[in-house]
Amino acid sequence: MFDRIARVYDRMNSVMTVGMHHRWRQRAADLAQVRSGDRVLDVATGTGDLAIELERRTGPGGVVGMDFAEAMLDIARSKAPAVTFEQGNALELSYPDHSFDAATVGFGARNFSDLGRGLAEMTRVVRPGGRVVVLEITTPQRPPLSWFFRMWFDRIVPGLGRVAGDSDAYTYLPSSVRRFPGPKELGGELVAAGLTDVRWVLTAGGIIAIHSGTVPG
Ligand SMILES: C[S@@+](CC[C@H](N)C(=O)[O-])C[C@H]1O[C@@H](n2cnc3c(N)ncnc32)[C@H](O)[C@@H]1O
Repeated sequence: MFDRIARVYDRMNSVMTVGMHHRWRQRAADLAQVRSGDRVLDVATGTGDLAIELERRTGPGGVVGMDFAEAMLDIARSKAPAVTFEQGNALELSYPDHSFDAATVGFGARNFSDLGRGLAEMTRVVRPGGRVVVLEITTPQRPPLSWFFRMWFDRIVPGLGRVAGDSDAYTYLPSSVRRFPGPKELGGELVAAGLTDVRWVLTAGGIIAIHSGTVPG
């Protein structure tokens, strides 16, 4: 599906979030607490926007972005030649234990067929003291935002997807958000993956959750 929508993915992100997704990625990159010279892995990197944000902090050559959709990676490569983009499976990362200073995932965890395993893999490849960050859409519980959210995701987003030429993909998006654990449950998944100091911030009126944790040791 992501190979199919790669060409329209960035434009749809900008339209659906009214350009706000860049600000959310900046906050996620801040929470990864990376510095110049660090090595960071961006899992399910897609067209690479979070990896690019991280590379602004590490400097050239510090970031690896991985994903299994080659068409998404092709676009990422054309945007950021200084980032290494590699094909792979987030549930079976091909990197040694403790080989990164931080690992991030932006709007990708919701697509993992096994969330616990994806988070455990991210935790495994980060050194003790390093950070794991998950940026995701979440379902606001309280009106009026919950009403707005339902209208936006159930009606407007699939309509925009139809205009962009792939209504299936943009019908899948709201259903994948609905299936995904809420902020507290996701916090529990990070703890179960072995992370400590687990916290989350909600932004955009409670539509976006950014979870973070530290690898113990
Ligand atoms: C909604 S896109 C997010 C892309 C990007 N991280 C962003 O912030 O825009 C989800 C991405 O997750 C990738 N993905 C889902 N499951 C994966 C897995 N098990 N291994 C690697 N990539 C995966 C998809 O190929 C897709 O590019």
